[in-house]
Amino acid sequence: MTLLDPVWTSLLYLAAAVFFILALRGLSSPRTARRGNLIGAFGALLAVVTVFLSARLDNIPWIIGAIAVGTAVAAPVARRVKMTQMPQLVALFNGVGGGAAALVALLELSHTGDPWVRLAIVFTLLVGAVSFAGSGVTFAKLQELMTTRPVVFPGLPVVMAAVLLAAVGTGVAVVLTGSLPLAVLLMVLGLAAGALLVLPVGGADVPIVISLLNAFTGLAVAASGVVLGNVLLVVAGTLVGASGTILTRAMAAAMGRSVAGILFGAFKGGSTAGSTVVSERPVRSSSAEDVAVLLGYAQRVIIVPGYGLAVAQGQHTAAELALALEARGIVVDFAIHPVAGRMPGHMNVLLAEANVPYESLKEMGEINSEFRTADVALVVGANDVVNPAAKTSSGSPIYGMPILEVAEARQVIFLKRSMRPGFAGIENDLLYEPQTSLLFGDAKDSLAKVLGAVKAL
Ligand code: TAP
Repeated sequence: MTLLDPVWTSLLYLAAAVFFILALRGLSSPRTARRGNLIGAFGALLAVVTVFLSARLDNIPWIIGAIAVGTAVAAPVARRVKMTQMPQLVALFNGVGGGAAALVALLELSHTGDPWVRLAIVFTLLVGAVSFAGSGVTFAKLQELMTTRPVVFPGLPVVMAAVLLAAVGTGVAVVLTGSLPLAVLLMVLGLAAGALLVLPVGGADVPIVISLLNAFTGLAVAASGVVLGNVLLVVAGTLVGASGTILTRAMAAAMGRSVAGILFGAFKGGSTAGSTVVSERPVRSSSAEDVAVLLGYAQRVIIVPGYGLAVAQGQHTAAELALALEARGIVVDFAIHPVAGRMPGHMNVLLAEANVPYESLKEMGEINSEFRTADVALVVGANDVVNPAAKTSSGSPIYGMPILEVAEARQVIFLKRSMRPGFAGIENDLLYEPQTSLLFGDAKDSLAKVLGAVKAL
């Protein structure tokens, strides 16, 4: 006996699917992202409640217990995670989703003799396991539990091909026989394939692979919807699969790379992460007072935020500095590179937190032609996204990535702590150019000192 009849169940599932679509729409702009997130969470809650009211469930205490444990672990982790650690949290949550879909498919194998449903089970098992293991490796890389560089060994492509062939053969056998031990073997092969797929990816490419694995999880969840005969899972999984694919392509394009190049670049012998050699060439270092004079007597200043601003949590001080300069009649904008920071929209979220008006945030395509009219480009904790090597050095791991053209500004000021390179691990020649000066120190401290000195002018 269930509380909801099939018509009401379908209507509530439809409503949940509409909430998911509205959530994606909301998430497409920083202005509406928070609301989009809440709408998506409400859709998910509605979907779970509908399952409880419409399906004949066994083991309800176990189900509620599992939900309680999941909530007790995930909620505090999500609340406490630092913004800069968000990509690895996404990787972890995403991997768990893929693994859950694979386990559900494994359990359903004994309940069906239909070869088409078995085919969906095989797909879910394999893709879910790839996503679980792959996400685990990306988490370990981003959390620096292991090297972030590409891990390759002789014969890796051969091992990978053998694992995939074995997986296809085992998958066919599972469809034909419905054998549980073979299904478990398929899952193990999926885990191996997931790890082997991600190990050779290194450096700046790792966050892109998270997005790709996100798409994989979406596909696994959609296939598990076919297994369970649940339309909402098919819809939700397809939405995740499609949005993950679009995001992967957009991130790869913003870095001037192809998805195949990211996954298989290291096989060709070339590492996708750069060297971390720092040269001994002299640079011009500045004091906060010198920087304040350059800024305070400029007419046009463009601030270029990067990962270091997020690490230093200097966004509020950067916003205050912009206001102080504007009060002196100076035109100030923030130049936003699509892959500045460590996740899509990182800088937008950071600066929105500090109430920087959206009109002051200029995307790369819009601002690049304006650097040549700027008196000062103030680069705060950014490096790779302004590195001219992306245009000039064909061997560089960021070669082909469109950059913010800060070198066109009359003066370039870098706020950073040392001469260490950025995420891609390559030197930035712009640091040694005559129009460049460096103010060394934590970005927040440096911004506060410059702000004080601007106010004292
Ligand atoms: P990075 O190139 O990583 O440079 C960050 C700079 O910030 C470094 O030069 C570092 O120098 C400085 N820094 C770190 N902590 C600091 C602090 N507390 N105070 C002041 N400076 C600090 O950052 P970016 O220019 O934003 O480029 C992003 C990189 O991530 C790119 O390579 C991009 O491809 C990659 N990536 C991004 C994404 C997305 S979606 N955003 C996805 C994949 C990959 P010091 O150590 O000397 O201070």
